[in-house]
Amino acid sequence: MALSPENEKTNKKKPRLMSGTRATGVLHVGHYFGALKNWLELQDQYECYLGVMDWHGLTTAYKQSDKVNSWIENVYAELLAWGIDLEKSVLFVQSQVPEHLELFMVLANLTPMGWLERVPTWKDAEEEAKQSDTHNLGRFAYPVLQAADIAIYKGLFVPVGQDQVAHLELTREIIRRFNKIYKLKFPEPKALLSQTPLLPGLDGRKMSKSYGNSIELTEESGSLRKKLMGMPTDPNRVRRNDPGDPEKCPVWSYHKIFTTQEDHRWVQEGCRSAGIGCGDCKMRLFETMDKWMSPAREKKKDLLANTSLLHSFMKQGQEKARAEAQKNLNEIRIAMGLKA
Ligand code: TRP
Ligand code: SF4
Repeated sequence: MALSPENEKTNKKKPRLMSGTRATGVLHVGHYFGALKNWLELQDQYECYLGVMDWHGLTTAYKQSDKVNSWIENVYAELLAWGIDLEKSVLFVQSQVPEHLELFMVLANLTPMGWLERVPTWKDAEEEAKQSDTHNLGRFAYPVLQAADIAIYKGLFVPVGQDQVAHLELTREIIRRFNKIYKLKFPEPKALLSQTPLLPGLDGRKMSKSYGNSIELTEESGSLRKKLMGMPTDPNRVRRNDPGDPEKCPVWSYHKIFTTQEDHRWVQEGCRSAGIGCGDCKMRLFETMDKWMSPAREKKKDLLANTSLLHSFMKQGQEKARAEAQKNLNEIRIAMGLKA
């Protein structure tokens, strides 16, 4: 899997991108539109470092630490199944690159608590955090670890959704302060804002496993069908003969993303004239989504059935990621005077 010299040259010219996804279970379709779709599109233009972030998962799931290994395998296989290409991207597991935590501590020491207290995701989550026993230092420091994730690879671009913009702004401030104190020139990463429309959950709210409104990215056909057929529709369309308004229906927001223009016309017309039933409308959506998922579903199954192959991929990602992380950490230790 060694890069040819030619490849290495072209790779060097590509700007570096860093991103990751928390491992707290199975990825859902919202993750695809929030992150994965972008990664797949950006893989060719950027040198990508992509992480399965298990330490970030543990900031809230620390009591389920026995599940982390299966989450990691599941997410790693998922990403490969959808087309993350190990020839183009370094796909690693965060806890397998301990340099993240070493840099985390360096950055934690220079990050004022006030900066973290002002992070909107922390402020918004504080009450819930108290309820769920996660009003803890690790969760509070989540953005510092994220800054370390990026800086350890000198990431220049970070594809993020709107909800991560505040984290990235904080990352830039932390790295600025770090550069100033230790006279370093680590890049202040820039956000690559996703243009992809967000896919709402089954009920029209934000898709989240904790709301029970999510669809797994490789959901089994039977349960995909059940979930889609159970979606709420325009509340005014009570009977089959009542005309409806797609704009008031979450099924339509799915059609907009998954089905063809021709299907869109069919839904618009059929819904407004009561020419089609909601069951027909949902069935068309199911068939389209099922077909879309099915190749990745098969690939993921094969990978999960062959754990030694899966682990050899992880090891390959780990080795590449560590080589870069160790190099950068070394530079930091020297600048700090920790090493002659
Ligand atoms: N916080 C990100 C999320 O919830 C995951 C993440 C962890 C990340 N470290 C990162 C994203 C570094 C980009 C860069 O999705
Ligand atoms: Fe929604 Fe389709 Fe029913 Fe119209 S026909 S209300 S768009 S499910």
